[in-house]
Amino acid sequence: MSGFAEPIPLSLYVHLPWCVRKCPYCDFNSHTAGEILPEAEYVEALIADLESELPRVWGRRIESVFIGGGTPSLFSAAALENLLDGLRARLPLRPDIEITLEANPGTFEQARFADYRQLGINRLSIGVQSFDDAALRRLGRIHGGAEALRAADIARASGFEDFNLDLMFGLPGQDLAAARHDIETALALAPTHLSYYQLTLEPNTLFHHDPPTLPDEDLIAEMQAAAQTQLAEGGFAQYEVSAYARAGRRCRHNLNYWTFGDYLGIGAGAHGKLTDPASGAINRRWKMRQPAQYMKTARAGDATGGSNEITSTERAFEFMLNALRLREGFDLSLFEARTDLPRAHIEDTLNGARQRKLIERDGERVRPSPLGWNFLNDLTALFLP
Ligand SMILES: C[S@@+](CC[C@H](N)C(=O)[O-])C[C@H]1O[C@@H](n2cnc3c(N)ncnc32)[C@H](O)[C@@H]1O
Ligand code: SF4
Repeated sequence: MSGFAEPIPLSLYVHLPWCVRKCPYCDFNSHTAGEILPEAEYVEALIADLESELPRVWGRRIESVFIGGGTPSLFSAAALENLLDGLRARLPLRPDIEITLEANPGTFEQARFADYRQLGINRLSIGVQSFDDAALRRLGRIHGGAEALRAADIARASGFEDFNLDLMFGLPGQDLAAARHDIETALALAPTHLSYYQLTLEPNTLFHHDPPTLPDEDLIAEMQAAAQTQLAEGGFAQYEVSAYARAGRRCRHNLNYWTFGDYLGIGAGAHGKLTDPASGAINRRWKMRQPAQYMKTARAGDATGGSNEITSTERAFEFMLNALRLREGFDLSLFEARTDLPRAHIEDTLNGARQRKLIERDGERVRPSPLGWNFLNDLTALFLP
């Protein structure tokens, strides 16, 4: 018998793996869409995938849904309606649930976005990256700056009060003025949330094989510091390494990951993490990565690509990997509730981190210090088993 005393919140991630074109920096499970998107077959596979997960989550309610990709905004409203109807018929959803859809500015048509809103999708995450045409070209994006501006207008006109803009910085050829200008332009569009990612060169991407020249580390640090100031002045609080939000507009779905909640993952290559209160086990499970193979196996009843248990010796590290990304840190009671480990388990490591001035402690609350925030990998590594 385990000690998990309080229920662990459960969210749902849905992966739609197609894009108009693969971006040279992107290592997500995304594939160039052919002439015809097999959306009906794919939605059928997603529902079959969900059915196969149901015995693992009987009686639990879904707190948030995130439809990510890939480029989910390639899917028609009719296909997404079938998906959402299928979800609602099989799982209880929290009444005021957050349902986010990722969208690429190269795929915005007003009528479709108004239909998305009608389906109950109430948050958009728009992959703007930059408003600078030359920068977007170098990133291999399918859109220019004007489409990015238009996307935000269409989002609002379609009834999406709540939308995020994804921006990247440290781009090939970018200087400080250009980075600052991207943030100014984003603020003028009045989103509720902004994600600001440093461009990284990921293995198995074109940029990794043939790297562009990137700004040096000092300049990248200046860009980030400038953005922090601009966003704070614009009313956005940084609550995670890359995430900034207006009051009350933090992304509930991502917060569930960062607070080590549970999530189901359906779709090609999707990952899930589930706690079984009866046995006390925490398991990860992921799905077949290739869309064709995923569809075939999901419809045959099991698209599992692999699974493993997060053993009790790994839990502290896994928890920290997420929770230390939060600017406000976490309460020790949350650590106990999510890992089923006593706080004594991490007491020595926390004391060591405090002596090295990497964390601050205020009663129950543990948060990374400004130094710890700068050396987050080192701080997190202290909790390795
Ligand atoms: C899965 S993508 C989905 C958004 C949508 N497909 C698009 O690109 O418009 C989520 C976000 O991750 C960020 N991202 C992707 N690859 C990245 C990389 N190599 N370095 C930093 N950020 C990256 C981008 O900002 C992107 O919008
Ligand atoms: S559109 Fe987004 S998901 Fe698709 S390849 Fe580009 S960055 Fe990756």
